[in-house]
Amino acid sequence: MAELKECVLVDGVRTPNARAHPQKGWFRNRRPDELLTYVYQALFERNPKVKAEDVEAVFCGTANQTGMQNDIARLGWLASGLPECVATNGINQQCPSGMAATEHACRAIMAGEGDIYVASGVEDMMNVPMAMGMDFPPRIADRYNPAEIPMGPTAEKVAEAYGINREDTEKMAYWSHMRAKEARDSGKFKDEIVPIPGLDDEGNETMIDKDQWIRDNPSMEQMAGMQPAFKPDGVVTAATSSPLTVGAAALLLMSRDKADESGLGYHLRYGGGCMVGCDPTMMGIGPLLSTRKLLERLGLKPDDIDVWELNEAFGTQGLAVLRELGVEENAPFDKTNLWGGALALGHPLGESGVRLLVTLNNIMKNERPEARRAVAMLCGGFGNANSSMWEKV
Ligand SMILES: CC(C)(COP(=O)(O)OP(=O)(O)OC[C@H]1O[C@@H](n2cnc3c(N)ncnc32)[C@H](O)[C@@H]1OP(=O)(O)O)[C@@H](O)C(=O)NCCC(=O)NCCS
Repeated sequence: MAELKECVLVDGVRTPNARAHPQKGWFRNRRPDELLTYVYQALFERNPKVKAEDVEAVFCGTANQTGMQNDIARLGWLASGLPECVATNGINQQCPSGMAATEHACRAIMAGEGDIYVASGVEDMMNVPMAMGMDFPPRIADRYNPAEIPMGPTAEKVAEAYGINREDTEKMAYWSHMRAKEARDSGKFKDEIVPIPGLDDEGNETMIDKDQWIRDNPSMEQMAGMQPAFKPDGVVTAATSSPLTVGAAALLLMSRDKADESGLGYHLRYGGGCMVGCDPTMMGIGPLLSTRKLLERLGLKPDDIDVWELNEAFGTQGLAVLRELGVEENAPFDKTNLWGGALALGHPLGESGVRLLVTLNNIMKNERPEARRAVAMLCGGFGNANSSMWEKV
């Protein structure tokens, strides 16, 4: 067997994340394939030394692969006018779909199957709502209580099991918005966001270049007054749930040799990934298990990780994972979601695993240049979880 190659992250881009709403969403005139077109084309425009026909394969994560998202990996690539000769592969792991797509590309590069891959993720939760076209296997009910499987109830169950209170999750939401707002206002997202034509609140055509869900003035009082979203005496509200969102993101991944030969810069290398399955009624705790397993395999401890990106699917599960790992106790966080998380930025399911890495790449470069290692992690519907480690080269 040949030695494993190194896989480096050459570039990453994303669309702004917009609200998935037929009257209020800034991308209410867009389709998910169009969002992919913008990010794919931006990758090649930003990196003219890379020719699209030299890409070995494109992996695209999408959680709900039906309707406009049916084989969107292939159809989105072709609709972008990109070369037919490039293989495409749709990946589904629910919310970590984009991260799974990235890991598949990294592993193929390391195994020497190809030098250039695109990993991407997309979800349009307006045109393809969660559970659209879903036909649940009846036998799942023999094993689990079907009422406990939807995402909201799992977030309540994790809160109960790990003793997470509502006020701490609201603090987490507050800081998620504050950090995202600060990053937006100081231009930190400029390197990663591809502006896209959309509609403003009044319905005028305009270029959208910022995330729609970020609140300029998050209020602890207002949050405290909101009704529980999933059960009458529950702790989870719309403010502490990732909102329904539309967005796409893509990464250019290459073997280090090829990037050097092509004169392309990079500063992160794929250090390893780990997927786990867990109880679907406790799906939010999954990243604790995938991260523990990953770090153990790499011979690392949570303290060896300088920067974390945790997908804030819900405040309850996010806090439980961070506390159990011993990374953070409460917001504001010291090394997690430094530019905000999904509570403020939104969570277009299949996109988020890629979006975390796009942002992480820029945080490691610009915000924490001294940091050596980072981990990104996500939970996913039905008990999917995924974590990956990235290190400075
Ligand atoms: C929680 C949930 C049901 C709420 O959906 P919804 O009822 O459509 O609510 P919205 O997100 O539109 O928010 C309701 C209102 O609360 C407001 N709101 C949200 N966060 C707020 C905050 N921090 N402070 C004040 N108001 C807030 C919204 O702006 C909206 O009001 P508006 O329409 O006047 O702007 C939905 O967001 C959800 O299901 N989230 C989880 C998605 C999921 O499962 N993802 C996968 C995770 S694994």
